Amino acid sequence: MPKPKVYATHPLFEEARQILEAACDIEYWTNEERPPRDEVLRRVKDKEGLICLLTEKINDEFLRAAPKLRIAANVAVGFDNIDLDACTKRGVVATNTPGVLDETTADFAWTLMMAVARRLGEGEHLARSGNWKGWNLDQLCGSDVWGKTLGIVGFGRIGRAMARRALGFQMKVLYTDAVKAPADVVQALNAEYRDMNSLLAESDFISLHVPLTPETRGLFDAPKFYRMKPTAFLINTARGPVVDEAALVAALDAGKIAGAALDVYENEPFIHPGLKRPNVVLAPHLASASTETRTKMAVIAANNVVALFKGQMPPNMLNASVLKKA
Ligand code: GLV
Repeated sequence: MPKPKVYATHPLFEEARQILEAACDIEYWTNEERPPRDEVLRRVKDKEGLICLLTEKINDEFLRAAPKLRIAANVAVGFDNIDLDACTKRGVVATNTPGVLDETTADFAWTLMMAVARRLGEGEHLARSGNWKGWNLDQLCGSDVWGKTLGIVGFGRIGRAMARRALGFQMKVLYTDAVKAPADVVQALNAEYRDMNSLLAESDFISLHVPLTPETRGLFDAPKFYRMKPTAFLINTARGPVVDEAALVAALDAGKIAGAALDVYENEPFIHPGLKRPNVVLAPHLASASTETRTKMAVIAANNVVALFKGQMPPNMLNASVLKKA
């Protein structure tokens, strides 16, 4: 029996490659840069499996170009790049990589929060510039993090990992979410529920941990920024379009908030020029980027693909109805 043909839009990691190569006839995109769309569409023509990154849009156009496709395995937990309805209509299973990146992502949201509060970007720039004249009493004074109020928007796995870290910093933790967390979780994390407006008004740091959905697109708009404290900071490691970037820039210009630390952007890799300012820390979508975690993500994607071709249920199906119907 010939092995199923699979295309991976990245060379992945050795551990994932071994899993795939044992079960599939796999072809990789190996260039440093992301592949052009037409190249991917050409490559997937005869493929039954796909391992893709969040930079690839898996939509009708894509699926039309891949008539034999049975599975699209995203190497990410967020799957806003995948049109699930289109996949389901064509009987294509879509999978993601939940669970393995929560702690790593929360680590990075904390990295950003600490960096913007303590003006690390500006300090690093000064230290490297050759212009540092030595210690001075009021030099680059930032804002304390410990003891402050952290508002978490979206209290799923990553939001809760964010809250857990706040315990050691003696912070007051508030959260808002469509679903209230169970009492034992709230108690263990010493967190309190607030409606959105109260959370905006009370928090010193607001960290976003919601998926990108039609409901969360543009969630952080001008009225939200106007409700925040002028001393407060916004942290975004979720998805760029959750924040209206033009409104954020306007709020920063008007001094409505103190600063922001961002890992994600509305139109990656484009970064709004108004965000390139000293009180905004910018990272290039790195929150899950530890070697350990990215390896685990690739392995999960590989296991999802291999499971399907072995006739098993892929563990991380986003549209399980596809297999139930079959
Ligand atoms: C990264 O952004 C992910 O969704 O895993």
